[in-house]
Amino acid sequence: MGEADQPTGAALQRLARDGLTMPAWSTADIPDQRGRRAIVTGGGSGIGLATARALTAAGAAVTIAARDKAKGAAAVTAIREALPGADIVFERLDLASLASVHAFAAAVRRRGEPLDLLVNNAGVMMLPRRETTADGFERQFATNHLGPFALTALLWPLLAARPGARIVTVASLAHWRGRIAFDDLDASRIYRPYAAYAQSKLANLLFAFELARRAKPDGPLSVAAHPGIAATPLASAGLAGETGLRSRLLIAWYDIVGQDAAGGALPILRASTAPGVGAGAYLGPRGPFGFRGPAGPVRSSALARDRVAAARLWTASEALTGVRFEPGAAG
Ligand SMILES: NC(=O)c1ccc[n+]([C@@H]2O[C@H](COP(=O)([O-])OP(=O)(O)OC[C@H]3O[C@@H](n4cnc5c(N)ncnc54)[C@H](OP(=O)(O)O)[C@@H]3O)[C@@H](O)[C@H]2O)c1
Repeated sequence: MGEADQPTGAALQRLARDGLTMPAWSTADIPDQRGRRAIVTGGGSGIGLATARALTAAGAAVTIAARDKAKGAAAVTAIREALPGADIVFERLDLASLASVHAFAAAVRRRGEPLDLLVNNAGVMMLPRRETTADGFERQFATNHLGPFALTALLWPLLAARPGARIVTVASLAHWRGRIAFDDLDASRIYRPYAAYAQSKLANLLFAFELARRAKPDGPLSVAAHPGIAATPLASAGLAGETGLRSRLLIAWYDIVGQDAAGGALPILRASTAPGVGAGAYLGPRGPFGFRGPAGPVRSSALARDRVAAARLWTASEALTGVRFEPGAAG
């Protein structure tokens, strides 16, 4: 189930038929995670919270990494109450700040703890006005792509030291509408909220697939997943304070069409834990329009599988973040 053998045509029909006859993958299928340590970015709410909860329930030691300490602490408390003895903590990380990414990764490395799973889940969507981060980047591109790129690079030595380690990058159906504006990655000439989001989600897939190609065959596994449509705070967080009809309709649309966060987390959990998932796999809901349905392999756009664009984005990401990332290097 790798990127090279992404299902097409007859294979998709077969998968659809099997999907009808095989029981859907569920959290009951998560293998025993005891002895495994995971970091879930953005685990204080939505899909990240559901992912963190299910991993913890399966026995993993989980760190929720996000900005909001109160939200993170509440998530940890809720999980500990539901799962007495749960090994879960919150640690502050702002992916839109390279200083924060460096500080977080340095603290993790200093502790010398092993790391088996990094779920690059945190994200922001459709910020109505162009915002720039302290590093001077457009906020959606910085939070959704540049921060996770730097974080993965800085944590790579820990992941590479663990057999069976995985990096799961959370993309979106929005990637189908994405284009990488290499001459204006920061959207400084033209800013459109959805185009900037779609670009960042396409960047997620280009990164996840390129990492799968660059990693050693016996190294950590890079895979991607998307949740379909899930009723989470994503839209309301991005559009906070917007009272216009379009914004209110969009927020309502996610609540009406979306499955719950636990359903949206299933492809991410399957990508994170299931045996048989190959490097470069892409998982998502396999129901109508990919909005919801059983978690399994799904297709990505031709642009997401463009190797030239992936290499170009990698070089640009190294230059912008100042973080060199050589996953295949000896050592
Ligand atoms: N919901 C959907 O229908 C849907 C569809 C496709 C893809 N996705 C993807 O799923 C992922 C999770 O989204 P969600 O729907 O679960 O929304 P959500 O509940 O808003 O979760 C996003 C999380 O990201 C964290 N975050 C935002 N900016 C951050 C930053 N600078 N540094 C660190 N953490 C940050 C937030 O926590 P703090 O505020 O504490 O930082 C928040 O908990 C995103 O990547 C999104 O693009 C969602």
